[in-house]
Amino acid sequence: MDDALLRTIAERFGTPTYVYDLTRVHRQWNALRTAFPGARLLYAVKANPNGAVLRTLAGLGAGAEVITLGELERAVRAGIAPVDVLVGGPGQDAALVARACELGVGLASLDSLGTWRAWRAAGSQATRFLVRVNPGLDPATHEHLATGAATSKFGLPPEAALALAREVHAAGRLVGFHVHAGSMIRDPAVYEAVQAVLAPLYRALPGLELVDLGGGFAVPDAPLAAFGARGGAVAGALGAGLVLEPGRYLVAEAGTLLTRVLHVKPEGPRRHVIADAGMADLLRPALYGAEHPVRVVASRGRPEGVAAALPGHPLSDLDGPLCENADRLGRALALPPVAPGDLLAVDRAGAYGFAMASNYASSLRPAEVAVGDGASEPVEGDPDAHRAGAAEARLVRRRERPDDLWHLEIDADAP
Ligand code: LLP
Repeated sequence: MDDALLRTIAERFGTPTYVYDLTRVHRQWNALRTAFPGARLLYAVKANPNGAVLRTLAGLGAGAEVITLGELERAVRAGIAPVDVLVGGPGQDAALVARACELGVGLASLDSLGTWRAWRAAGSQATRFLVRVNPGLDPATHEHLATGAATSKFGLPPEAALALAREVHAAGRLVGFHVHAGSMIRDPAVYEAVQAVLAPLYRALPGLELVDLGGGFAVPDAPLAAFGARGGAVAGALGAGLVLEPGRYLVAEAGTLLTRVLHVKPEGPRRHVIADAGMADLLRPALYGAEHPVRVVASRGRPEGVAAALPGHPLSDLDGPLCENADRLGRALALPPVAPGDLLAVDRAGAYGFAMASNYASSLRPAEVAVGDGASEPVEGDPDAHRAGAAEARLVRRRERPDDLWHLEIDADAP
């Protein structure tokens, strides 16, 4: 996002603040649509559940993949038709299943025999089912994101998946199988490994309508055309329509976290830059060692736009304001000299950013601002696009206040 726009937003709305470029969401959507023509795209709401983002994707024709009651309610509230919703995840409980049945959710992915029992107990009528398979493969990603590894909790090993699928099939409710191999996947060859696992299952139960290959495209620069070609080939070989559940790819690069420098400590072996955002705002660096690009967008005493690393300066840790070592946004960064008050942009923060923010240490969760227009066609390289965005920058979730921290507490002695 354009630095001038980000400076304006920081002045207007304060920091830390997440900024989402809805035009970029639209562009990412178009890229997926082009790479996977004909596939059903169900946005994985967990990546970014903000209503403005959801409404943008709903307007583009996205369905939703949801795993909690909250995500289900948000998706429907944003205008996604229940028939275009898939309920997934390992924890489908009675409340989620009952509400999904009441709404007439179109699809559910059964993670276990227990989840099938829950849907039966709820007397589900409209919903049709996929059975989630644990493919037992190494998707070459961070261990926390390797959901297709044999040791992960997700899905059933192929034989057990087939046994459950036969039961669901006998009830006339089976539409296919589901594999989400993992997240931040760069190598489309993963689809071939998945196909090898799924082929015998589709042979055993001929005529199944769908195959759900999950989400998982890495940012930046997942080779989307190759994913599309191979994904299409898997669906073709299985004789089933393709369903995908992209999350990160649609929103990560559309989001930036704005944070200001509070203090600079050059004294030790590492220069520590203490920012007003940290692990409570963006957990990914602490939890996965994720590396988000950081740049200076407004600096005192230096001309605007000097963002490149300056040679000869020590590496900096960009740390948060809380009291533990994991509280950081970046390690060993080649930041130019910065001073208190400087404005930094942490990029690729639109996925699993605010979504994983917490009130740890009674931190107040950041504001969320949207720019751009998710509805109109994005114009590639249009120099006016960001200026238009600045005029339109709008608060889509206000910054939390201290009283938000305790308003759910029940305290008879409170003043
Ligand atoms: N479908 C299923 C069943 C999933 O479990 C996930 C993500 C997705 C789709 C969407 O995956 P995506 O396209 O976003 O990679 N908090 C982590 C990511 C966890 C992903 C969990 N499952 C992070 O910040 O990297």
